[in-house]
Amino acid sequence: MSTESRIRCQKLSNRIMSARDAAALIPSGANVGMSGFTGAGYPKAVPQALAEHIRDHRARGENFRISVWTGASTAPELDGALAEVDGIEMRLPYQSDPVCRQKINEGRMEYIDIHLSHVAQHAWSGFFGKLDIAVIEVVGITEDGRLIPSSSIGNNKTWIDQADKVILEVNHGQSAGLEGMHDVYYGTALPPRRKPLPITKTDEHFGEKYLMCPPEKVIAVVETDAPDRNSRFSAPDENSRRIADHLLDFFASEVEKKRLPANLLPLQSGVGNIANAVMAGLNDGPFNNLTAYTEVLQDGMLDMLKSGKLSHASATAFSLSPEANQELADNIDFYRERIVLRTQEISNHPEIIRRLGIIAMNGMIEADIYGNVNSTHVMGSRIMNGIGGSGDFARNGFLSVFMTPSTAKGGAISAIVPMVSHVDHTEHDVQIIVTEQGLADLRGLPPRQRALNIIEKCAHPDFRPRLRDYFERACNSGRGMHTPHLLNEALSWHHRYEETGQM
Ligand code: COA
Repeated sequence: MSTESRIRCQKLSNRIMSARDAAALIPSGANVGMSGFTGAGYPKAVPQALAEHIRDHRARGENFRISVWTGASTAPELDGALAEVDGIEMRLPYQSDPVCRQKINEGRMEYIDIHLSHVAQHAWSGFFGKLDIAVIEVVGITEDGRLIPSSSIGNNKTWIDQADKVILEVNHGQSAGLEGMHDVYYGTALPPRRKPLPITKTDEHFGEKYLMCPPEKVIAVVETDAPDRNSRFSAPDENSRRIADHLLDFFASEVEKKRLPANLLPLQSGVGNIANAVMAGLNDGPFNNLTAYTEVLQDGMLDMLKSGKLSHASATAFSLSPEANQELADNIDFYRERIVLRTQEISNHPEIIRRLGIIAMNGMIEADIYGNVNSTHVMGSRIMNGIGGSGDFARNGFLSVFMTPSTAKGGAISAIVPMVSHVDHTEHDVQIIVTEQGLADLRGLPPRQRALNIIEKCAHPDFRPRLRDYFERACNSGRGMHTPHLLNEALSWHHRYEETGQM
């Protein structure tokens, strides 16, 4: 599709208007489903115009707030702009914007943090109320009104299906070559009408290449020409390299023991620099013909596709640096053969994750000595980002790995604590914990052996003696012995940090 002919449907080209006029069609109090997932494929113009509109209302002393539902995190042009003007009443399901984070933690914005695979079915069931408007970025519109999805799909199918009205942003800045890279499955249903999902390999297509939208729903079409957030990744630091090395050694020993095939199992890799560093390690490592069934495709996976280490990747969104984005655009035919983008209820679907036997690798804030993991709340109360897809993959994967440096804030905080201050992943869903200190394989271990492994393999030496001391005193306390704790001390490390700035 050439740049000039992005809107090939006559009926919809009649609805082209400015972002300002389109934003004026969104009333205060509306529930608005926006496209966007990890800084890719989010609407770039309408949310900013809406923020201006809200600012004008505020200047006249009028309140104006909407609820924003997305796929996952977006960017300053959406979350940042709307949060800045206090325009968001409620946000779901995952965000990573600093202004949003601040407003949520100040209690000025409601936030519902749920598993990404659940969002669509909760919306179909009406748990969040009625979706009024969808604002969706697309790459183009075909003659018969089908929509070419952009650099993420996320919940777009659900938002278009559920909303009364749809505003489309056609972004000329997105590669037209994305057409054909998507797989939008229209067979999902609520129980008892569900059928098995027809997929047994990561590269299978079983849906449509396009999003369907009745033209009469479309109230505005806005043209944009702007890049995605495209944040740079930092070069892997020493800790990330060591985490990657521990993980690669572990995979090699699992292959040797014949617990994993030589090309491993499909990889899921979480967000952030450590996840990207693990991909860089795998790119230099001994494993070939790898596959990925993941949520987000970062630079590391693109490098692996380019080198041939990874033969195929399934995701719901890209999250690339500007350089990687250029690489994708320059070689889009090559990547279209090797990448499929799916809706997030499919990229994160428990049935598929369990069937394919995914190796789930995600970051965390802290783990406790028994292997419970906190991915979301600093010191038990302050949201960082959200659970994202980590629960979908950890609970249902063949292997569930959580990784973090062993300390945070210059060594003031231990990432291994007596008891986590918030639980996202219970000990039952956590099999492997990795820090730069080492890797604890918790499979097949009862609680006290899990504790010894985590303390000895993963804790930083500065904190290890105190963790041993806590654990030994808990074991000898004469109280219950299955998962020994000292209740009056279990959260004292966090309390001490709040009081003194040092755990
Ligand atoms: N206590 C307090 N703060 C901590 C901490 C701890 N135990 N561990 C990390 N932090 C802080 C860091 O200091 C840093 O703060 P800063 O932004 O002020 O510098 C921040 O948390 C991020 O930590 P970082 O080490 O850079 O890790 P990251 O970028 O790998 O992110 C998570 C780690 C947990 C926040 C991130 O992986 C996440 O949001 N996970 C949940 C969602 C998820 O797993 N999604 C993937 C599924 S597909």
